[in-house]
Amino acid sequence: MIESNETLILGYDLEYWKNFGIKKEISVDISPQTNSHILLSGMSGSGKSFAEFGLLTKLILTDPLGEFYFADYKADDMFECLRGTPRYRSFKQTTELLDIVRDRLDLRMSGKDKTRHPITLIWDEYVANILAVMREDKAKATKVMNKVSEILLMGRSKSVRFICSCQRPDAVVFPLGSRLNYGVVIVLGVGKSIYEMLMPDHLELIEEKKEEFNRGEGAVLLQGAKLRFIKIGQVNDMERMKKICIEALSKPIDGGEA
Ligand SMILES: Nc1ncnc2c1ncn2[C@@H]1O[C@H](COP(=O)(O)OP(=O)(O)OP(=O)(O)O)[C@@H](O)[C@H]1O
Ligand SMILES: [Mg+2]
Repeated sequence: MIESNETLILGYDLEYWKNFGIKKEISVDISPQTNSHILLSGMSGSGKSFAEFGLLTKLILTDPLGEFYFADYKADDMFECLRGTPRYRSFKQTTELLDIVRDRLDLRMSGKDKTRHPITLIWDEYVANILAVMREDKAKATKVMNKVSEILLMGRSKSVRFICSCQRPDAVVFPLGSRLNYGVVIVLGVGKSIYEMLMPDHLELIEEKKEEFNRGEGAVLLQGAKLRFIKIGQVNDMERMKKICIEALSKPIDGGEA
């Protein structure tokens, strides 16, 4: 259940789930005053894309007036149903969505667009995508990373949100300190080096727990301080989830001031 239009349920408290079979929600404030940029990381197969699909669905339900864009670098089979919708791009076209969202931010910053409904860009396999652009065209990669940084730094007050997933948050793609721009950091699975990069202050506790992690389970750091262990949980009605996402991504791109 969605609590309010300013709260997003990320998943469930893993310890309550495992120890007592209780579904205790872990939610995050996504009101404009709060940093709700999300970084999702984990080794291949840990459940990132599945978690992203769920996040997209919950965000759409939370903000029916929101604008959503989905970049799927490797054209994952899981997102096949979204292919062809105007607000979805894969492979070499993903950066087109970044341009659209960055332009929307500009319009809001310049005062030309006074709307403040949330605009969310979700980017699956962000790091692999940037590394591929770097190999092809270094200058373009720098521009892309700069645009992302601008959204991370200035998006909050203008209700523009960035959510990305990657297997490893490599330092070349996340220059020093830039991971701090994410209000919510989720790591799924057992990848030690990923926890070292993203949750260095909590390694002892994570090391103790992580041996028990199954797919879709891991740790979440809220606003850089609060660590919780999380279970993403299953989806009972995949068809409904797909329908909700297809509908949201099917809206035309109009440079909108809707
Ligand atoms: N919480 C979950 N509940 C049920 N099934 C899940 C869950 N998370 C993932 N799965 C299933 O596990 C498989 C792998 O998950 P997913 O593709 O999300 O991993 P990934 O981390 O994105 O991997 P990759 O980095 O290779 O893209 C998928 O078939 C997915 O349906
Ligand atoms: Mg994936």
